Amino acid sequence: MSRKRVGVLISGRGSNMAALIEAAKAPDYPAEIALVVSNKPGAGGLATAEANGITTATVDHRAFKGDREAFERAVHAELEGHRVDIVCLAGFMRIFTPWFPGQWEGRMINIHPSLLPAYKGLDTHARALADGAKVHGATVHFVVPDLDAGPVILQEEVPVLEGDTPETLARRVLEAEHRIYPAALRMIATEYRLV
Ligand code: GAR
Repeated sequence: MSRKRVGVLISGRGSNMAALIEAAKAPDYPAEIALVVSNKPGAGGLATAEANGITTATVDHRAFKGDREAFERAVHAELEGHRVDIVCLAGFMRIFTPWFPGQWEGRMINIHPSLLPAYKGLDTHARALADGAKVHGATVHFVVPDLDAGPVILQEEVPVLEGDTPETLARRVLEAEHRIYPAALRMIATEYRLV
C-alpha cells in the first residue's frame, strides 16, 4: 500500500493535527503526515508535531506584508518540496485568494466547527447558542475558493445542552472533530477525487 503524503496547515494548538498524527500511526492507515506548516511562529502544534518526529516549517504571513498570494506561493513551495499529495487545514486561520485552492482542487480538506452550511466563519459556538440551536456539530469538507463552502465529506452532530456556554459546547464539538477528521482523511486518502 502506498500511503498518501499529507501536509497539515495550522495556526495554533493543533489538536486536530494531533488527531491526524495519532490516526496515521496505525499500520493500515492510508496516509502519513509528511509535513506540518504554521503561519504563526511558535504555534503550539509545532512542538507536538516535532515531538512526533514530523518535519515542520513556519511561513510567517506577516513577512509578506499583505501580499496574500506571495504568502500562499511560499506555503505551496513547502508542500511541493515535501511531495505532499493532500493538504489538511487544521485550525489554519488565513483566508485564501482563489489561487491556492486552485492548486489543490479536490486534494485539500478543512475541519470546521459547525454543521455547514450553518455558521460559516468565526464564533460558531456563540452564534449557535444565540440562535437557540438544539443541534450543533462539526464538518469536514473540500476547500473551494469561497469560505467554508466546499462539498461536505463527513459531519457529526452534537446536541446543545441546557446551560451550555460557548466553551462547554466547543469542548464537545472538538471531540467530534477529532473523530471525523481522521475518518474523512482515511476516505480521501483511499480515493480522493471529487466524484
Ligand atoms: C478547531 O475547532 C477547528 O475546527 C477550528 O479551529 C479550531 C482549531 O483547533 N477551525 C476553524 O474555525 C476554521 N475556520 P486545533 O488547533 O486544536 O485543531
